[in-house]
Amino acid sequence: MSSVPAQHQRVLSGMRPTGLLHLGHYHGVLKNWITLQHEYECFFFVADWHALTTHYEDPRIIAESTQDMVIDWLAAGVSPGAAKVFIQSRVPEHAELHLLLSMITPLGWLERVPTYKDQQEALKEKDLATYGFLGYPLLQSADILAYKAGQVPVGEDQVAHVELTREVARRFNHIYGKEPGFEEKAEAAIRKMGKKNAKLYKDLRKRYQEKGDQKALDVGQALLESQQNISLGDRERLFGYLEGSGKIILPEPQALLTPASKMPGLDGQKMSKSYRNTISLREHPDEVEKKLRTMPTDTSRVRRTDPGDPARCPVWQLHQVYSDDQIKDWVQEGCKTAGIGCVECKQPVIDAMIAEIKPIRERAKEYIDDPSAVKAIIDEGCEAARDVARVTLEEVRKVMSLSAR
Ligand code: TRP
Ligand code: SF4
Repeated sequence: MSSVPAQHQRVLSGMRPTGLLHLGHYHGVLKNWITLQHEYECFFFVADWHALTTHYEDPRIIAESTQDMVIDWLAAGVSPGAAKVFIQSRVPEHAELHLLLSMITPLGWLERVPTYKDQQEALKEKDLATYGFLGYPLLQSADILAYKAGQVPVGEDQVAHVELTREVARRFNHIYGKEPGFEEKAEAAIRKMGKKNAKLYKDLRKRYQEKGDQKALDVGQALLESQQNISLGDRERLFGYLEGSGKIILPEPQALLTPASKMPGLDGQKMSKSYRNTISLREHPDEVEKKLRTMPTDTSRVRRTDPGDPARCPVWQLHQVYSDDQIKDWVQEGCKTAGIGCVECKQPVIDAMIAEIKPIRERAKEYIDDPSAVKAIIDEGCEAARDVARVTLEEVRKVMSLSAR
């Protein structure tokens, strides 16, 4: 159940800075962000505190990667005019909200998040029996809730973290959303919508609460969203009142599942730094060519005259990403009949990949040569992010009875 209608949804996502970005990130994550930035209000940030939970012993790589990562985002097409780009550690509200949420988060909820044990297991060489690592998904919840984000683009492995965020938000609203006189205030707010809308709202509320009519809830939320003369506080009350809860202070986000990246690496496995099969977004064209030329192919093609099968060849997987049907037919036919050689077969992929990387590489170079422009973009993004997070934190402090500033 989402408490915020689609047209007003904010999108937020983060990435941990642990090295240069490669084509896997581009096809899997960045292209998606670049589409979203034109459809929603987007916040994209470098999750440097999250990186510290696993890299606390070598924090220098985090600092280095942070700058590079922003440059790669911008070079790939994330537009500072359309999206806010910022750095987590420069918005201390994330840390404050993390702390405050920790007060109401049962330990068991964190221990049960699948990534907790999985990652400890996967990164055995590191001591991850730390407080910070256990709190990783709660910090992520704070990231999301500080912006009241409605949509969170993430991969499959992160869905459990968004789920935890929903539970934490629900618990928060349940504990702190029951202000004194809530019902009276909600009823007064209903009257401010005018006779006709008030009646409609009451009707929809009844239909949802008595019959579980989901459509009525959706229409009710849209109705609230379209109201011009009610205050923000009243709006939050009416969203909660509609659902039968208290005031909704922290809305529950949805995971916007990013389709698993189909970008294969140089060995046919998924492209990933840990498999050492990557091509970076800043790779020199000669290097792209060299890496592809030395890429393994179907091992049954020992000699040029031996026929092969694309189904057994990692180059074929790259054709799926980069080639049109005509080229793909040419590969199938040529490979199976030994009509073409592997060097020949790789050429269209080499050309397409270089053409894809070239403009990214050039834009990255412009930013590398102009660090003050990058700094200005980040400064501006951090300011904008803080402005939003500050408002949420003021509200959170208030309902938690912490002294006003
Ligand atoms: N944990 C995410 C990852 O490893 C990164 C992240 C941190 C994030 N905070 C977030 C993603 C908030 C989405 C929203 O990929
Ligand atoms: Fe792979 Fe192409 Fe060689 Fe066939 S011809 S083995 S698909 S590189």
